[in-house]
Amino acid sequence: MKKKTVLELGILTFACMQVLCGCEKQQDSPLMTVQVGVACYNQSDTFLSELLASFKEQLSGMETQELSATVMQKDAAGSQRTQDDQVRELLDAGCNVLCVNLADRTNPSEIIELAREREVPIIFFNREPVAEDLMQWSDLYYVGADAQQSGVMQGELAADAILANSQIDRNHDGKIQYVVLEGETGHQDAIIRTEKAVDTLKDKGIGLEKLSYAIANWNRAQAQNRMTQMIGQYRNDIELVLANNDDMALGAVDAYEKLNYTESTLPVFFGIDGTREGLRAVADGRLAGTVYNDKEGQAGAMARLAVALVCGEGMQELSFEKERCIYLPYAKVTADNIEEYQH
Ligand code: BGC
Ligand code: CA
Repeated sequence: MKKKTVLELGILTFACMQVLCGCEKQQDSPLMTVQVGVACYNQSDTFLSELLASFKEQLSGMETQELSATVMQKDAAGSQRTQDDQVRELLDAGCNVLCVNLADRTNPSEIIELAREREVPIIFFNREPVAEDLMQWSDLYYVGADAQQSGVMQGELAADAILANSQIDRNHDGKIQYVVLEGETGHQDAIIRTEKAVDTLKDKGIGLEKLSYAIANWNRAQAQNRMTQMIGQYRNDIELVLANNDDMALGAVDAYEKLNYTESTLPVFFGIDGTREGLRAVADGRLAGTVYNDKEGQAGAMARLAVALVCGEGMQELSFEKERCIYLPYAKVTADNIEEYQH
C-alpha cells in the first residue's frame, strides 16, 4: 500500500477527530463563552457555600468543545452597597449573565438598572425579590424554593415525632413548650417558615406553649449564644427547638452540649436545609429531622438557565412558575430516609 503523505495523514486525523468528538459543527464554529458573575450576600453562609460549590461543578459539567464557562464570584459580606459596586465590577469584567443572591432582598433596583443598561440578564437566587421588582424588566429570573412548603414540612416532622413519643412532653402537661430560632428579619424563609411550622403543629392538634424566640441570622455561633441565654432563663422547660435552618439547630445543640446536658433533659431539635453537617446530625440523632432544601436542584436550574440565556437555546426545557421563577421542591429527612441524602 502506498505510503500516505503528511497532508493526507493530517486530513485523516482531522476527520477521525471530528467523528470521535461527535462535532457536527464546522471547524470554524465560534466558541461560546458563558461568563457568569456571581454576587453572594455572604460567602460564609453554609447553605450558600454548598449551593455555589454545586453550581460551579454542574456548570463546568456543561462545558463542551463549543461552550466554555467561567465563574467570577464576589462576597458582599451582608452589605447591599458593597454588592451594588461588585455587580458593576462584574459587568465591567465582561460577565454576560449574573447570578445575584441579594444582600437586601427588598433593594435590587440599582443592580437591575446596571444590568439593564448593558443588557445582561439576572438570575436572582435564594433571596427572593418582591414580585414588583421582578417585573421591572423582562430579563429577570428567580431560582429558589417555596418557603411555605418548608415550614409545613418542618411542622409535620415535629408533629409526627411528638405523636409517636409521649416522652417529648417531658413535664406531661399536655403541651409542648417550645422556642424558635429565626433567620434574618425580612428574609422570606424566616418569616414564613416559623409561621407555617407553628400553624401546622396546631392543625395536627398539638398543644403548644411558646416560651421564647431569638433571631440568630442563620448563624450557628449566634444561635448557640441565644440558646444559651434561653436555657439560662427556662432551664429544663424547653421541650422543642424549631430552627429556621440547620446551622441554627446545630448551634442550639452546641449550647446544650457545652452546658453538659444529658439526653433525658434535652429537647428535640428540628432544622431545615440538609447541609452536610445537618445531615450528619440527623444520622447520629442530634437533630430529630430536617427539611431538604434542594441545593443541587437549585444550582442545576441556575446553571441551565445561565447557559440558555447566553446561548439562546434550552429555555423550553426549564419549567417556570409565575413566568420567570423556578422553585425546587423541599423534602422531609429523618433517620428513616437519611441514606437517600447522604452521599
Ligand atoms: C437557607 C439558610 C440560608 C439562607 C440565606 C435559606 O434558604 O435555609 O440556611 O442561610 O437561605 O439566604
Ligand atoms: Ca410539656
